Amino acid sequence: MNPAITANPSPERGRFITLEGIEGAGKSTHIAHLAALLAASGIQVVTTREPGGSPVAERIRGLLIDRGNAGMDETAELLLMFAARAEHLAKTIRPALESGIWVLCDRFTDATYAYQGGGRGLDPARIALLESLVQGELRPDLTLLFDLPPELGLARARGRGAADRFESETLEFFEAVRAVYLERAHANPGRYRLIDAAALLPVVSAQANAEIRVFIEAQRRDRAGAITS
Ligand code: TMP
Repeated sequence: MNPAITANPSPERGRFITLEGIEGAGKSTHIAHLAALLAASGIQVVTTREPGGSPVAERIRGLLIDRGNAGMDETAELLLMFAARAEHLAKTIRPALESGIWVLCDRFTDATYAYQGGGRGLDPARIALLESLVQGELRPDLTLLFDLPPELGLARARGRGAADRFESETLEFFEAVRAVYLERAHANPGRYRLIDAAALLPVVSAQANAEIRVFIEAQRRDRAGAITS
């Protein structure tokens, strides 16, 4: 998932795009298509995921999704998510963005608000504190929210094989996760694009591609405007 990051002297900062949604939204399939679309537009891109995306963060991921860790303390879970994120930012995300490489990330801090805030019921103010501690000012430039009813998402995810610690949660848990995602998307329409992930895969893929094309064009216009002004 992490091709070697090549140095590029004093480049324009890369863009940070995240994909979010409950299980079964098909994000892993879409991320590969979107990376191919960016590469075909001449943009250098790295794809990654959370929790994970660097060697230490992948080990923390193992702890987080292991069903053997059922009943993990909720605050411990929250801190492990941010511990993994700090490593991921330091080893993968920031070096890429600073070299002008775009980062496509399967889940980021919106997932913490949705799962630990919505699903587990933790105070979002605590999440916000950790967000500023770990990320400073860094936030995604664009977030695609793949939205679908949890019944459908869970049926798809469970059809893929043994459920991990999160996939074993109840329908009510995923309803709360989805509700927080949707609230955040409505509160921040500048950053979020809502994708109807209940549709058939090619339809979902076409929606996501269209959003990325619009975003690439907007970045090109901004850059051209910055050069001429
Ligand atoms: P996935 O990569 O297969 O989607 O599994 C990762 C799980 O971790 C998923 O169920 C969502 C969960 N998660 C959180 O609870 N909080 C977070 O901040 C992140 C990034 C993921």
